[in-house]
Amino acid sequence: MKAIVIVDKNWAIGREGGLLVHLPGDLKYFKEKTLGHTMIMGRTTVDGLPKKKALPGRTTLVLTRKPKEELTDENGVCIYGENAKICATVEELEAILGPLSESDEFVAGGASVYEQFLPYCDEALVTVMEQEFPADRHFPKLPELGWELVSESEPLTENEVTYRFCVYRRP
Ligand SMILES: NC(=O)c1ccc[n+]([C@@H]2O[C@H](COP(=O)([O-])OP(=O)(O)OC[C@H]3O[C@@H](n4cnc5c(N)ncnc54)[C@H](OP(=O)(O)O)[C@@H]3O)[C@@H](O)[C@H]2O)c1
Repeated sequence: MKAIVIVDKNWAIGREGGLLVHLPGDLKYFKEKTLGHTMIMGRTTVDGLPKKKALPGRTTLVLTRKPKEELTDENGVCIYGENAKICATVEELEAILGPLSESDEFVAGGASVYEQFLPYCDEALVTVMEQEFPADRHFPKLPELGWELVSESEPLTENEVTYRFCVYRRP
C-alpha cells in the first residue's frame, strides 16, 4: 500500500480532529493521486471531512468498530455516502483489497490508521511543510525508521506555508 499524508516539520498531522492548515495545492495533489483509487481512513478522519461524506471519485473504506446499523440511514445506505464501505477489521479490508502488502491502494489517515497500516506500505507520499504547528496527532518519523527519501519537488509557498511533495520508500 501507499501512505499519503501532509506533515509539518515535526511530522505532526492534526489537531482537535482537523488538519493543521488549508493548502489548496496539497488538496489538489491529494486528489490527483487518489482519484479512481481506494483509500483506508479511520472514522475520526471521515467525520472531519466536509459534510462528513467520503470524498467523491474514490472508494473510502471507513475503519470503525461502531455497529453497522448506526452507520446506515433509513434506506440502508452508508451515512458516509455510496462510495464508502464500512470495515471493522483488517480481514474485512483484505476481503475487498486482497492482501494489504500487495495492494496498490492508499492509507489516508488519521494517526491511528497510519500507525497500524504503515507496516503494509512500501511507499509514502509525504507533503512536508517547513513550518511547525500546535498539534495532537503525528505520523511516524520515516527517516528515523530507515525510510529513504527518493524524490522531492521544488518548494511551493501558499498561505505563508512552504512545502514540498516528497516520496519516501521502505529500504
Ligand atoms: N495530515 C494529514 O495528511 C492527515 C490525514 C488524515 C487525518 N489527519 C488527522 O488525523 C487526526 C485523526 O487521527 P486519529 O488517530 O485521531 O483518528 P483516525 O485514525 O482517523 O480514526 C480513529 C478511529 O478509527 C477506527 N479504527 C482505528 N483502528 C481500527 C481498527 N483496527 N479496527 C476498527 N476500527 C478502527 C476507530 O473508530 P471507532 O471509534 O468508530 O470505532 C477509531 O476511533 C485528525 O486531526 C485528522 O485531521 C491528518
